[in-house]
Amino acid sequence: MKLLLIGSGGREHALAWKLAKSPNVEKIFVAPGNGGTAIENKCENINITDIDELIKFAQKEIIDLTVVGPEDPLTKGIVNEFKKEGLKIFGPAENAAQLEGSKSFSKEFMKKYGVKTAEYETFTNVDEALQYLENCPYPTVVKADGLAAGKGVAICETKEEAQEAVKSYMVDDIFNGAGQKIVIEEFLEGIEASILSITDGKTIIPFISGKDHKQIFDGGKGPNTGGMGVLAPNPYVTDEVMKDFEYNIMDKTLTGIREEGFDYKGIIFFGIMITKKGTYLLEYNVRMGDPETQSVLYLMKSDLVEVIEASLREELNKTTIEWNDGVCINVVLASGGYPGDFTKGYEITIDKKVRDKVFLAGAKAEDGVLKTNGGRVLSVIGVGKTVEDAREEAYENIKHVTFEGAYCRTDIGAHK
Ligand code: AMP
Ligand code: GLY
Repeated sequence: MKLLLIGSGGREHALAWKLAKSPNVEKIFVAPGNGGTAIENKCENINITDIDELIKFAQKEIIDLTVVGPEDPLTKGIVNEFKKEGLKIFGPAENAAQLEGSKSFSKEFMKKYGVKTAEYETFTNVDEALQYLENCPYPTVVKADGLAAGKGVAICETKEEAQEAVKSYMVDDIFNGAGQKIVIEEFLEGIEASILSITDGKTIIPFISGKDHKQIFDGGKGPNTGGMGVLAPNPYVTDEVMKDFEYNIMDKTLTGIREEGFDYKGIIFFGIMITKKGTYLLEYNVRMGDPETQSVLYLMKSDLVEVIEASLREELNKTTIEWNDGVCINVVLASGGYPGDFTKGYEITIDKKVRDKVFLAGAKAEDGVLKTNGGRVLSVIGVGKTVEDAREEAYENIKHVTFEGAYCRTDIGAHK
């Protein structure tokens, strides 16, 4: 098979690496890819991002299957466009992708199908939003409705903070339109987990769970990032939590997907909060998480191409996904200054002493030399029988990967 993989992050390097392991795969074009996919087995980067150009490329190269990494092309309807041309593509159609593309749409969907989630109100008028803040309980959570590159959520301890957030979204328009509509929701206290899963619209099969570490500093301090490292499986996702999740969130979501008639053959990622009052859904993502993918796919024993093909044939009910035992941790090595300003273009060296995989993210290959090219530059993997083993392995490996100003958290997998 010839594959086309869309995206350029660490998630896509992990996807490319995993897809390339399938004996059925001969070649993977990655559009646009990064420094990791540039050198990965069977892979070749192509510098295309425009949907029409991607379609022409898929037709010319007779691509057998296209896999979409990020949410942006999904919410823009890339799946509909490819299907119109009779091209095989894995991902949800445009309307289903709004489960991630619009917070108000996804909250309405959750409410309609009884998916357990935080109480909320939606606003398009700034005065009404400010009025609501007068009497709501604090802390409260202010969310931009549209995609805001992971930055559209403000946890506000006080009324003043919430007023500031609402004004910056709705009046100052800091998210270029994505915050013109907002959701204000109940603050939930608990432990977060990421449950990536695959669906064919009739069945959902959850993958092993992950524990992301979103804040930049140890102990969960400082501003949120895209994710600084992931432990999989997530030790807080006990059998009891999983049952609660399946009953109150997953099964009801599946009912919703069916009733709405969504064409959904793709990844559905549940961001959940495990609280004293049970497990709540914070959000849906319609793609794999980054850096969840790096840890979760590392432990997947099954052939991912076969699993994707089972979804496209609507045969997930006959499919089981197998996992390797043990624990996987990936620790992100970021550019100094991230998530604020940082400098790009530093040379990256990966010593032979690194015993596990390094997945590249914000990194490019220039004349055979790897250079930093983003905030989250790469992820270093560590595996082991226990969390402690995996942590030790990951942090031993990371000592042998260097670039100027490199920063990582030291408590991935240790911090709750
Ligand atoms: P989201 O983009 O909806 O996942 O939100 C980003 C982050 O904000 C989540 O990973 C949580 O850490 C936090 N968050 C979102 N909604 C809530 C909530 N209702 N209560 C507490 N924290 C939240
Ligand atoms: N790591 C969180 C996300 O991909 O949304």
